[in-house]
Amino acid sequence: MKKLDRWAMPLKGTAEEAYSTDATANDPYRYLIGFDNRFNSEALKGVLPFAQNTPQRVKYDLYSEQLNGSAVVSSRKDVRHVWMYRIRPSVAHGDFRASLDVNKHIESCFLSTNPNVESCPSQQAWDPFPLFNALGAHDHSASVDFVQGIRTIGGKGDASLEDGLAIHIYSANADMDRHAFCNSDGEMLILPQEGRLDVRTELGCMMLSPGEVLLIPSGIRFSVQLPDGPSRGYIHEAFAGRHQLPELGVIGANGLALDAHFCHPVASYLIDENPWAITYKFGGVLHSCEQNHSPFDVIGWSGNHVPVKYDLRNFINLVNSSKDQADPTLYCVFTVNSRKGTTALSEFLIFTEKWITAEGTFRPPYYHRNMSTEVMGLLFGQYGGSSHVLAPGGLSYEASYMPHGETYETWKDATTRELAPTKICKDTMAFMFHIGGPIKLTQWALHGAGAKTLHPSLPAQWESIRPHFFDHAEQIAAETAAAKLEVEKRQVTQDELMKSLQ
Ligand SMILES: [Fe+2]
Repeated sequence: MKKLDRWAMPLKGTAEEAYSTDATANDPYRYLIGFDNRFNSEALKGVLPFAQNTPQRVKYDLYSEQLNGSAVVSSRKDVRHVWMYRIRPSVAHGDFRASLDVNKHIESCFLSTNPNVESCPSQQAWDPFPLFNALGAHDHSASVDFVQGIRTIGGKGDASLEDGLAIHIYSANADMDRHAFCNSDGEMLILPQEGRLDVRTELGCMMLSPGEVLLIPSGIRFSVQLPDGPSRGYIHEAFAGRHQLPELGVIGANGLALDAHFCHPVASYLIDENPWAITYKFGGVLHSCEQNHSPFDVIGWSGNHVPVKYDLRNFINLVNSSKDQADPTLYCVFTVNSRKGTTALSEFLIFTEKWITAEGTFRPPYYHRNMSTEVMGLLFGQYGGSSHVLAPGGLSYEASYMPHGETYETWKDATTRELAPTKICKDTMAFMFHIGGPIKLTQWALHGAGAKTLHPSLPAQWESIRPHFFDHAEQIAAETAAAKLEVEKRQVTQDELMKSLQ
C-alpha cells in the first residue's frame, strides 16, 4: 500500500459557491441550480483558468482534462463536455482486467442471440426484491456494495450498438470501499426506494433520498455510500442516450418538471493516497483497474456534462381534466430520444398526489393495448391503478401490444359510483418506464434468484368478467324492432312518393 505521509489521511474540500442551495437535515450538500446549463465550480479559489481551457500551467500545477459526452462535431445544443482541473490525470491507473467477479448479473445485450434474455408476452409482477442480502447469494451476511448489488430485469437493444436501454434493480448493504464505478455505455437514472445514497462523483457530492432521481452521465466516475444502511432501488440505463426534459408544447413554460428544481454538485475533492479499484462498464462488460490514489481529485470544473438530481415531489401535475383522461405524456419527467427520431426510446413517468375531477368519466386507467412496454415500480405508498399488486420495492411489467386493464371489481365500482373531486396517490409515489416497443426480460428475473418474488400471472382473474351486454337482450331486441319499423315506415313513405310522381 502506497501512502504519502502528508496525505495519509483522506482530505476533503468543497467549493464555496455564490449561487447554490443550502444544506438540509437530509442532505448536507449544496447544489447549483438549473437544467442543461453550463456551470463553473471551484473547490479552491482561482483554479479555473480565465479565457482559455488549457493554459500552459494551471494554478497549483493541476492537470487539465476534458471529458466529452458527445461527438466533437455536434449541433451546439447537443455538445456535452466538462473540463476538469485535477491533481492527477485520469489516465494514471494500472492495467485493466475483465472483472466478472464484481458482478455477473448486469446484462447489456438484449438481442435474440443472447441466451440470458427472452421475450415474455404475459403480464409479470414482482414483490419487493430482497433487502440486506446478495440477491442470489445464499449467504445473507454477504457484503454487497451498490455496483455488486445491481441485477438486470430486462431491456432492449445492445450497449455495443449504442442503442437501447436496460432496466435494473439494486440492493446493497455495504459502502463502496475505495471502489468507484464508471459507465461508459450510457447515462444512468437512479431511483432509491429504501435508504439514502451518498454519491461522490468526480464533480462533487450528492445525497439522494427516496423520492429523488439522479442522472449520472456516461463516463463520470462515482462511488456510493449508504448512510442509512441497507438500500434498494431502481436504475434505468440509456445506452448512448440522454434523459432530457420533454417539449412542453401548449403547456407553456410552467408545468411538469421545472428547470429551477434541478440540482448539480459543487466541486468537491477527496485526497486519498491509497489503493482504489475502478470498475468500468464498457461494451456491456465490466473491466477493473487499480490506482494508488482517489479518482475524486478534481479541484475545479467547467461544463455541462454533469450529474443532476431532482426531487420528484416538485413535479407539477397537470392532469386535472373536465372529462376523459389525459395522455400519460402529462406525467413525463424525462424522455430519451430514439434513433427513429419520431418516437421516444423511453419515457420516465411519475405518479404523485393529485386531484381527479373528471365528470361523467370512467376514471381508472381504461382497458388498453400499447405499442409501448410498461415497467412500473413503487417508491412509497399504495398504488391502485393496476390489476396486480404492486408494493414498494416491487416491479410490474406489461408487454408491448398486450392487453391490460382494471379488475372486474374496479370496473363495477368505477361505473356505478357517484363521482366527486377525489385526491389520489396521497403519500404515494409510483413511476413508469414507458418504453417504445418490446423489451426482453432476463433469465435472472424470470427463472433465477429474481423470480423468488415473482407472482404468477393470473389469467383466471379475467374469467369473472361478466359480458353485461347480454343483460340488455330485451332492450336490444325492442330497440332493433323499433328501428326496423322505422325503416319500413320510411320505405313505405318513399314508395308512396315514387307512385305519386309516376
Ligand atoms: Fe398500460
